[in-house]
Amino acid sequence: MIERQEELIESEVPEEIAQEEVFELSLRPKSFDQYIGQEQIKKALKVAISAAQKRNESLDHILLYGPPGLGKTTLAHVIANELKGNLKVTSGPAVERAADLASMLTSLEDGDILFIDEIHRLPRSVEEILYSAMEDYVIDIVLGKGPSAQNLRLDLPKFTLIGATTRFGALSSPLRDRFGIVNRLDYYKEDEIEKIINRSAKLLEIKLQKNALEQMSKRSRLTPRIANRLLKRVRDWAQVHGDNTINDEALNETLSILEIDQKGLDASDRRVLDAIINKYNGGPVGVSAIAAATGEERQTIEDVYEPFLIQLGFLERTSRGRKVTERGYLHLGVEPPKDMQSTLV
Ligand SMILES: Nc1ncnc2c1ncn2[C@@H]1O[C@H](COP(=O)(O)OP(=O)(O)OP(=O)(O)O)[C@@H](O)[C@H]1O
Ligand SMILES: [Mg+2]
Repeated sequence: MIERQEELIESEVPEEIAQEEVFELSLRPKSFDQYIGQEQIKKALKVAISAAQKRNESLDHILLYGPPGLGKTTLAHVIANELKGNLKVTSGPAVERAADLASMLTSLEDGDILFIDEIHRLPRSVEEILYSAMEDYVIDIVLGKGPSAQNLRLDLPKFTLIGATTRFGALSSPLRDRFGIVNRLDYYKEDEIEKIINRSAKLLEIKLQKNALEQMSKRSRLTPRIANRLLKRVRDWAQVHGDNTINDEALNETLSILEIDQKGLDASDRRVLDAIINKYNGGPVGVSAIAAATGEERQTIEDVYEPFLIQLGFLERTSRGRKVTERGYLHLGVEPPKDMQSTLV
């Protein structure tokens, strides 16, 4: 019996990741009221939702894109809650065959929501089924093979598709064009991150000092997921070494263990800047070369590191590649090249 249990656990997700997921789930906002920030997007979605409800129609298909951890999956769940429809969840890599998607689509009911995470990773043959499904609520299925093959057209219920992706550019244009509502989630403002941390601290019953809260929001990469994770790490430190309250000491000790600097950059972010400066004279240099120099995946650099470094104004995208800015040099404590030095202090 015990052996069997161990086997089961081993075949599942590693424990640490599973715990992170449970943790994220417990903090995930369920309604627009709980979902902090992204005000423009919320405003537009609320209008679209109540208009659809008044007309008794299904809501337009929605595409949510932006860097990881900004709340795309959370927002999809919030929309489903507000619509009071059933939500079915899947992801691009999980749908391998067109038939899988067809059976998912035919099992929906009017007003249901199908959420496809990482939608840019749908295989092309599967994606093509979505075109007519999204536009006309029908799918064409080929039954049998060869000369006797028959084309069967199936009507679908009036569903709403919500797609999420970190890579808008990787989506084919026929797919992109079929979303009536396209929203780019952007980094949060510091005061919004403060509100998010505060909300999480309340839910987790953590005592938090005001100054530590402000500092924590500055070190969270303007990203809710990172803010929540940092909160969790600092709570761990406070439980082990302190009096369970999150104060400056608990925060600073945790930040130094995690090697997170004043701007919220960690060692990997700094390695990217450092590689461009020291191996490529500050750029411009292509992403593949940066990937080779840092040992990171090209895609991780494009999706995770680069957007935030650009947001901070430390990195610039030019037609010839990526370039570290004067601010970027100064942040690493390296003197910028003479022709770059400006009036920045
Ligand atoms: N607007 C928000 N208000 C409060 N908490 C939020 C908000 N957005 C995200 N969060 C918190 O951040 C966590 C991560 O968000 P989520 O999983 O939705 O990000 P994502 O954009 O789907 O990321 P990925 O691209 O990696 O899938 C959530 O569990 C939630 O607790
Ligand atoms: Mg997600």
